[in-house]
Amino acid sequence: MSVPNLKLNTGATIPQIGLGLWQVLPGIICKRAVRIGLEAGYRHFDTAQAYHNEQHLGAALKDSRLKRQEVFITTKIRTANLGQDDVLPSFEKSLEKLQTDYVDLLLIHFPVTEHRRGAWQRLEEIYKSGRAKAIGVSNYMIHHLEELLAECQIKPAVNQIELHVFLQMSELVDYCKKKGIIVEAYSPLAHGHGLDDPTLAKIAKKHGKTAAQVMIRWCIEIGTVPLPKSTHKDRIKENFEVFDTFDSPKARSVSTSSSLSLRAEGLSPVEWVDFKLDQQDMTDLAKLNRNLRTCWDPTNVP
Ligand code: A2P
Repeated sequence: MSVPNLKLNTGATIPQIGLGLWQVLPGIICKRAVRIGLEAGYRHFDTAQAYHNEQHLGAALKDSRLKRQEVFITTKIRTANLGQDDVLPSFEKSLEKLQTDYVDLLLIHFPVTEHRRGAWQRLEEIYKSGRAKAIGVSNYMIHHLEELLAECQIKPAVNQIELHVFLQMSELVDYCKKKGIIVEAYSPLAHGHGLDDPTLAKIAKKHGKTAAQVMIRWCIEIGTVPLPKSTHKDRIKENFEVFDTFDSPKARSVSTSSSLSLRAEGLSPVEWVDFKLDQQDMTDLAKLNRNLRTCWDPTNVP
């Protein structure tokens, strides 16, 4: 199974799925999640200073013995470090914890009114120094992006926002597309809310997939980069299986809807075909939008 890469406005590429490490406990739990993620095929990991697990991601990647250029690492400058004098020293600590001399993507974690403009200048300096291969923002709404685009020397490559079928943010997603900014979807599973939705269940059954896989696939269909989080082995793998599916009479006769168990039965990989949501699925999923926020709401941040 190959993961598509999207092109960033820097010319570099980003794998179209990443393992989200928000609320992944620091220490052994995080190291284990990353190790399982690597075994499943993830090569893109999303951490942040505020998650307190940069060092455990760094340690797990070191243990993997993969070459640095084989993985895509994102971190974010936390709110408390967005002051102009704090961005650089905090970023240096992040690099140390990650055991690397560069990140693939560095984000401003939240559009803090009094700090975001100065902080962006620091990110531009870091980008120019080569220690972040791309820079971007998180939780920015259209008005925050308009301010940034009017002033910046280097355009943001990415805006990472809460995005899922229950919070579709189509105006913001379209705006980012027009401006050449890749949208990343955090909490693509709405933090586990709504996985029992009947529309999701119907579409999941039709494709021999799970509701979670349909939610993640929806993010891919609209051209964004989902960052599902899990610390459970089966779910980490399940969430990655969104690019292909098993299609054969034998597969359809298997009682479970999870493609994972089909693979576990040793069915031949030649029978794997692309997993895609069709127009009817997308129309049905569009109706699930209900502005459900499971995290911060930056809408009214001036
Ligand atoms: P856990 O870490 O215990 O597996 P999001 O990425 O939208 O923030 O969602 C994360 C939440 O969804 C976590 O509570 C996670 O729990 C749960 N989760 C992740 N993957 C799945 C899955 N495939 N099926 C059900 N729940 C999941």
